[in-house]
Amino acid sequence: MNSPEVLAGEIMGRIDQLAAISETPGALTRRYLTEEHRRANQLVGEWMSGAGMNAAQDAAGNMVGRYGGANDNSPALIIGSHLDTVVNAGKFDGMLGVLCGIACVQALRDAGRRMAYPIKVIGFADEEGVRFGTTYLGSRAVCGTLDPATFDRTDANGITYRQALLDFGLDAARIGQAAHRAGEVRAFLELHIEQGPVLEALNRPAGAVTAINGQTRLSVTVTGEAGHAGTVPMALRKDALAVAAEGVLAVETVCAQADDVVGTVGILSTSPGAINVIPGDVNFTVDIRAREDAARRDAVAAAIRAIRAAAEKRRCIVQVTVLHRAVSAPCSESMIAIIERAMAAAGVEPSRMPSGAGHDAAAMAEICDVGMIFLRSDGGISHNPAERTSQEDIAAGVSIMLNVLDEMEG
Ligand code: GLV
Ligand code: MN
Ligand code: MN
Repeated sequence: MNSPEVLAGEIMGRIDQLAAISETPGALTRRYLTEEHRRANQLVGEWMSGAGMNAAQDAAGNMVGRYGGANDNSPALIIGSHLDTVVNAGKFDGMLGVLCGIACVQALRDAGRRMAYPIKVIGFADEEGVRFGTTYLGSRAVCGTLDPATFDRTDANGITYRQALLDFGLDAARIGQAAHRAGEVRAFLELHIEQGPVLEALNRPAGAVTAINGQTRLSVTVTGEAGHAGTVPMALRKDALAVAAEGVLAVETVCAQADDVVGTVGILSTSPGAINVIPGDVNFTVDIRAREDAARRDAVAAAIRAIRAAAEKRRCIVQVTVLHRAVSAPCSESMIAIIERAMAAAGVEPSRMPSGAGHDAAAMAEICDVGMIFLRSDGGISHNPAERTSQEDIAAGVSIMLNVLDEMEG
């Protein structure tokens, strides 16, 4: 059986191979139900088969590999993370968890071992939610909790989720085939880069996640009136961008004043978008997250109130659409304890931490116990091409994951 160090070297090579499958040359962007998604699934499927798994794409476009257990009818441990990316992404976010899962199964197969329970490794198709604004589409399909209204969502080109599935060779009407019943799943384990600076500050390679913070994503449309930049007096304008500008600052202020709440405006588009035209229409997104659901809800409500007040002042109209809402999802105490024992057995001092980023584990928590292993991120950088986790830390992650498999045998 290859050592975790050798497996980590192989994982690094695979990370680069996956990073080469991108919609944009020279930068990594791979969204849900694109040609690049298909190619990534194909490659991951080959690696799954090579590791001794039966591999197939499911009805939502997730890549699923199964490694039978000695007691093959018992509920499966699902190990997974995502294969989609943000725009101009780092190459470890999501992919690392899928590749570590495959590497662990490969190690078992090479050692001629089967655990008592079956293992499924899943490369989830959509965690970032970049294409349709709402997230966890892959893991929600696996849980059977995907809201059918989501199929009418459109991407930036006006293509509905339903149509994108058809173009990919899938069918919204059959997405239920991807769903697992609660009794079929023993637990969900996700290894992911931390995407923040805590482990680096602690000088530790890994940590156990306690909970995944909740999040709300909004789309805000402000309708004012386009007009001549030279002729319309300031008092008579309906400047939609001025409303949005106040909105952006309101999101920042509201979140900064609350406890452990973060807020981001990541997209803002103005129309008609000319230097000498007053912006008549503006659309922007809001992403607000918190550990405490009540604090998140209060911040969202306060931000919306401030945006509406800014619009009223300028006689503009505001429409707010909730794109995505996820409550804070705790990891199970038993999985946290298992991960901590696995860390100790790998010679890593255990530490616990919450996750500010969203993860497939948050969706999976609806049907089973979930546990997450975080690995140290260089400089805490993520959602950025500079994102990096060292090969040494990945080897520690593989050791911890293999120890978790053993711990779950007991
Ligand atoms: C996904 O990475 C998110 O937290 O937005
Ligand atoms: Mn991400
Ligand atoms: Mn991720």
